[in-house]
Amino acid sequence: MKTLTAAALCVAMALGLCYRAEATAAFDLLRQSAVSYTGSLPCGGWDCECAFRRQQSCCCVAQPLFELEEATFIRMVGLWEGLSHLNSQIEELTAGCKIAFTAAMLPMSGCLGPFTSNVSISYQSVSLNQGNGYNPALGIFTAPHAGLYSFSFTAYSSVGRAGQRLYQKAQLMKNGQLMASSWEDNREDSEDSSSQTVLLQLRQGCQVYVELLSGRQLCGDTQGQNTFSGYLVYPVSEL
Ligand SMILES: *[C@@H]1O[C@H](CO)[C@@H](O)[C@H](O)[C@H]1NC(C)=O
Repeated sequence: MKTLTAAALCVAMALGLCYRAEATAAFDLLRQSAVSYTGSLPCGGWDCECAFRRQQSCCCVAQPLFELEEATFIRMVGLWEGLSHLNSQIEELTAGCKIAFTAAMLPMSGCLGPFTSNVSISYQSVSLNQGNGYNPALGIFTAPHAGLYSFSFTAYSSVGRAGQRLYQKAQLMKNGQLMASSWEDNREDSEDSSSQTVLLQLRQGCQVYVELLSGRQLCGDTQGQNTFSGYLVYPVSEL
């Protein structure tokens, strides 16, 4: 009987009577026997009714395999659920979160100001407005999503001749509160520029803009040197 031959070979191997080459030959023999076996299985099916009842043989391995398959399937379903939950969280967090704008003042020959009150500067030449947070008519950025934002502005002025007073002050505002400012007040320079970059935490709907202070002016910007830009560094679900 082939099964008995195989079992005998295995016992011999277990006793250390076979060398490696002989063991390989024995496995080959086992494999060939299994493949060429045409009779009915001693267990009558995949149900552990084997000649050696508790041995994990060709028959007995069926049940553990089914269990493993079941466990793997359940684990995969769990992983899939976890993954789709994570996916929807990411989508929720990043929904509409490509937010960035760049705007410059339109070229002008004269001056903006002076005015009798602080006036928000409308940077009307918009080269980027992802997420449509920036309103060029008002010069106001309204946060479409809560998060950490970066804002920059440059205030440039040229009064033309030396001896004329360079008198500029611009300030970055968040909902009416001063966040950053830059200024120049002298008669030595006829032109100058200054910049500010700040990181601000904004709630959705927060408004950020640059003001020109009352009594101050920005002059001679012919090439759009006065710019205002901002972008979302990262979103938060709510502050
Ligand atoms: C204009 O801004 C200046 C400087 O931040 C501030 O002192 C002043 O109160 C502001 N004026 C008004 C009317 O808000």
